[in-house]
Amino acid sequence: MSYAANFGVTLTQHVLHRQALHPNARGQFSQLITQIGVAAKLISAQVRRAGLIEIWGATGDENVQGEEVQKLDRIANDTLKEVLIQSGCVSALASEEEDEFISVPSALLGDYVVAFDPLDGSSNIDSSVSIGTIFAIYHRRSIRESSVNDVLRPGYEQVGAGYVMYGSSTVMVYTAGRTVDCFTLDPSCGEFFLTRSDLKYSEKTHVLSINECNIPYWPTWVKPFVKEIIDRNDEAHREITGRHIGSLVADFHRNLIKGGLYLYPEDRRTGRGKLRLLYECNPLAFIAEVAGGAASTGRGRILEVMPEDLHQRVGLIIGPKADVALAEAFAREAAKAEA
Ligand code: AHG
Ligand code: MN
Ligand code: MN
Repeated sequence: MSYAANFGVTLTQHVLHRQALHPNARGQFSQLITQIGVAAKLISAQVRRAGLIEIWGATGDENVQGEEVQKLDRIANDTLKEVLIQSGCVSALASEEEDEFISVPSALLGDYVVAFDPLDGSSNIDSSVSIGTIFAIYHRRSIRESSVNDVLRPGYEQVGAGYVMYGSSTVMVYTAGRTVDCFTLDPSCGEFFLTRSDLKYSEKTHVLSINECNIPYWPTWVKPFVKEIIDRNDEAHREITGRHIGSLVADFHRNLIKGGLYLYPEDRRTGRGKLRLLYECNPLAFIAEVAGGAASTGRGRILEVMPEDLHQRVGLIIGPKADVALAEAFAREAAKAEA
């Protein structure tokens, strides 16, 4: 009997197996995913020590969106930036924590462009609740010097996307457009192993995730829609339960596994959502579609929104296809009635 047989497939082996399906591939995508895995381990190590060392709390600075920057936001951002630039796989980067896009020095230029939220759910850090990292990958567009147009692109141009969740275990989920696969970090040896392959949404919604304290700001269609979903429960049978963590990445991951619908609709006061298109909504929308689900702003497909700004916010409804379509139908009816 071989004792090595049960070790499972590592993240690196998995990306190399996938690369072998593309005989002309130069291997940069595989390297990029592997390097994101390295950054994830470095960030995870810091997250696991938060509270033990002085990295809880705020830096005292605000980011370009007027939000308080937490120390772990800064650590995660610097780690990803450094690892990605040194990887030689990227030509431009965009981050929630950077005012402008980052152009990579010519000596290190690579084939890809990455937009990322270095630490998602950072308001949850101090209470030790699950947080994460989200990333979107595009082919490089500019031939020579990168410009903002390398990152201001519709989500359907993504060639890969993923996230890392620092939860009860650290998991990394990624897709290159065919399947969505999940890897769990074994902290004893520092390696990611494949733990769930080809993740798919259930057809039915079993979990509803929405911050109900935002009722006063919801567009008019959201309240009747939420009621319609909850009304699927009756005395004899409970079909739906509610779960809302307040870390998008953790809410999304649970929903992908359990069959959940997540909504952060546009705010009626501003006409904009809270979540950012480039590095929160687009990568998760790409993953959702590959997993057989859907993602919408309420007005249309997330992946077709033409971004105008690096930090643009949109409404997000994401999860099982039929209920995302139902939400769009509610939104359309309300818009007609209000016209
Ligand atoms: P970030 O920490 O990257 O700024 O993102 C926070 C986001 C998201 O993770 C979360 O689901 C949402 O903000 C929660 O917003 P509310 O507190 O308004 O519900
Ligand atoms: Mn975020
Ligand atoms: Mn963030």
